[in-house]
Amino acid sequence: MVASNSSSSASSSSSTRQIINDKRWARKHTEADIRHLIEGLQNGAIPDYQISAWLMAACINGLDIDETTWLTQALVDSGTVLDLESQSGAFVDKHSTGGVGDKATLILVPLLASCGVKIAKLSGRALGFTGGTIDKLEAIPGFNVALSQEAMFAQLKTIGCAISGQTRTLAPADGRLYALRDVTGTVESIPLIAASVMSKKIAAGAATIVLDIKVGRGAFMKTPDAARQLASTCRAIGERLGKTIATVISNMDSPLGLAIGNSVEVAEAIEVLQGEGPADVRALCIALGAIALVESGQYETLSLAETALMASLDSGKALKTFKALIDAQGGDSEVLQDASLLPQPDRIKMLPAPEAGYVNGIDPLKIAEAVNLLGAGRKTRESPIDLGVGVVLRYKIGEYIEAGDALLEVYATDDFEKNAQAMALLLEAYKIKPEKPEGHVPLIHELCMNRPGHLADLISLKAIEATDTISSVL
Ligand code: URA
Repeated sequence: MVASNSSSSASSSSSTRQIINDKRWARKHTEADIRHLIEGLQNGAIPDYQISAWLMAACINGLDIDETTWLTQALVDSGTVLDLESQSGAFVDKHSTGGVGDKATLILVPLLASCGVKIAKLSGRALGFTGGTIDKLEAIPGFNVALSQEAMFAQLKTIGCAISGQTRTLAPADGRLYALRDVTGTVESIPLIAASVMSKKIAAGAATIVLDIKVGRGAFMKTPDAARQLASTCRAIGERLGKTIATVISNMDSPLGLAIGNSVEVAEAIEVLQGEGPADVRALCIALGAIALVESGQYETLSLAETALMASLDSGKALKTFKALIDAQGGDSEVLQDASLLPQPDRIKMLPAPEAGYVNGIDPLKIAEAVNLLGAGRKTRESPIDLGVGVVLRYKIGEYIEAGDALLEVYATDDFEKNAQAMALLLEAYKIKPEKPEGHVPLIHELCMNRPGHLADLISLKAIEATDTISSVL
């Protein structure tokens, strides 16, 4: 028994060494090589230092689309797949690569369900500079973010949507791989990111997936080129693994909407579901929703789908579905009438503008840093968060402000020192100049769909173009 164990571990480690060496010399792996690595990672047969060495070689020398697809499939196969095919209805899913103030999931899930598709959304918690949908939902008193599969399926039958925390059984090897990438400087690799994102989406079971890839200062992808490469890699993986993938590249050079934090973002999402709210959040949700409805075959054209989505927002239909979702998951849906039932901050402070002028830029990273300093984000996976803190912007890019007027509201703590540090960061985030910013950068830069549909068809985007100026590095 001992002899056979040691010989299998010796042969396993020599082939692992060979695989690492192959990638070190930029040689192509076989599917079996990749399976060997991921199975070894999963069952502990391959030590972290060998996986880490391979990650560095893969990060430097890359993985081609065959290797990236095999990696994605091996990560999917490390766990279970949500069997949505056993359920009736057209299932869609959406994923954002993460941005500051991105509360689109809270709006899109009930909105899409109110327009006839089903959505079983598995979301994550905040880590790093971006917020997490699951934390935001926990701001709704009583909301259960840990649904069993049975509860989720039952809810999908009755109301067509559910949002739950990512279970440990979906693509578990991705969690282990990501933890190693995080500490070995190998997160920033397009094939590794694509395999990580797509493995979780494929394990979540929907046939149609819309990926919102953010680009800019407040995003993982800092350049349009990197965002494009990630988008095309994800689409290619989807094509090979039988999924319909649409990709959007959207702007993240300034925060999305006005609210950044947990309670404040839920309150803003409710406003959008009430047919109000910031124009950019509404437009992005309508655009992403329309793409999902066309890609899943529910509507022929983007403009027909957008019309249905707008009608649902403006008539209260989407809000009604959100109420049904909150009720089904044990939350207090009174928050829809009374946002003060959401966790509140210790105090609300105004940040006065130091000078008069036009807002030329709002650095999303500085805003996120300030909000995290107040306690809205996490330093580690286990850190507690303060759901009541955050900021609500009063001025967006292109708007004129008088000196001394409130630039934004700070939902602050009772810690004087922390509040002061956060206020200093928030001031640094705003670039105010005597001149109006020139040019217009769209909310969505690119769209790639499988069915007919172009960016220029999206009426929701045209509506905000007239009013919104977004300056950008792009
Ligand atoms: N998000 C993921 O899920 N995985 C990555 O590797 C990066 C962002």
